[in-house]
This record gives sequence, C-alpha cells and structure tokens, in this order.
Amino acid sequence: MREVKENFYRLLHPKVVFFLTSAGKNGEHNVMSCAWATPVSEEPPMIIVCVAKSHYTAELILEKREFAVNIPTKEMEKAIWICGSKSGTKVDKFKEAQLEKIKADHISAPLIKNCAGWIECRLTQSIDAGECYAFVGEVLSVKVDDRYFKRAMWVSGAIPMHLGGRKIVYFKDEKLA
Ligand SMILES: Cc1cc2nc3c(=O)[nH]c(=O)nc-3n(C[C@H](O)[C@H](O)[C@H](O)COP(=O)(O)O)c2cc1C
Repeated sequence: MREVKENFYRLLHPKVVFFLTSAGKNGEHNVMSCAWATPVSEEPPMIIVCVAKSHYTAELILEKREFAVNIPTKEMEKAIWICGSKSGTKVDKFKEAQLEKIKADHISAPLIKNCAGWIECRLTQSIDAGECYAFVGEVLSVKVDDRYFKRAMWVSGAIPMHLGGRKIVYFKDEKLA
C-alpha cells in the first residue's frame, strides 16, 4: 500500500465532465468546465456541484441561485479546455469556445446547444467546503439527446470523462451498442 493523500480525489475519477452555466443579475452569462458533481437525492431530485470560491461561476451562482449542467459530446473536447482554463471575468468563453447558447425552460442561465444532456437546477443550499462551495441544486428539468442516451444510460463512448490533469477518457462497453 502506498500513501497518495495529495491525489485523494483522483481515486474518485474518472468523472463525467460538463459545462456549468450560470447567470448574473445584470443578464451576464458564464460557463466553466466542471467534474466534481454527484446526485444526492432522488426524491426530490437533487445534485451537488462543487465550485472553487474564487471562480466567477461561484459569484454568479450565489447571485442568481440557479445553474445548469450541460453534458458535452466528444466533439466538444477543445471547448472543455478553454472553459476550464480561462475566467469569465476576462473573456466571453461562449464565443471563444464556439459554444452556442440556447434558452433554458426554468432559469435565466443559458443551456449549450449540441450537448448530449442538460440539467436545470435551482440552488437550495451552499455548503462551505474548503476552497469550494458545494452547491446543492434542486433539479427542475432534465433533457437528453436520444442519440447519446439510450435505455436510460449513456451510450458507450459518447461522453467525455475527466481522469485527471489533461486526460479525458471514454468508457467502452461492448455489450452496449
Ligand atoms: C476537466 C476540468 C474539470 C474541472 N472541474 C472543476 C470542478 O469540478 N470544480 C471547479 O471549481 N473547477 C473545475 N475546473 C476548473 C475551472 O473550470 C476553471 O478554473 C475555470 O477557469 C473557472 O472559470 P470561471 O472563473 O469563469 O468560473 C475544471 C477544469 C477542467 C479543465
């Protein structure tokens, strides 16, 4: 056995990586790449997304109390790195990463076109967790593109997962077509 405490979180990867979209009270929009997230309740449906307190996204989520999870496809790998390395205070990441916004049904934060799945959430609780806030979101709406989500599961190889560092991986299951 070898102690690797400095990399503790890597033991819980790979994780589905997604675009976390948010909005401010003056109509501004932002997007960041995010991998630290999990479902926490089915009844009512709730998830947690973890965002560093220093990120612009954290400021916007606290301001409008809403956010959306946009799950990318393989074609969006480059956008994952752009949205995961620049701050929305400095650049319009939608433009820079060539991500097209679409209107959400329940929140003012935008959704991202051509993704594989979308979850709209209302913030119910912010948990102070070290350098992050763990944002608890009540799930308001969940949509998928049927090409990527079949029999209530992601299709083999369809969605990027973050292994750690600069590594994106895809799961492969020969039994799932
Ligand atoms: C693959 C990937 C996963 C990431 N996951 C997270 C995460 O779970 N939580 C987080 O706070 N930042 C995460 N980041 C870093 C943010 O996306 C990055 O710091 C971003 O520039 C913050 O943008 P903002 O300041 O516009 O909100 C991740 C970056 C990448 C590339």
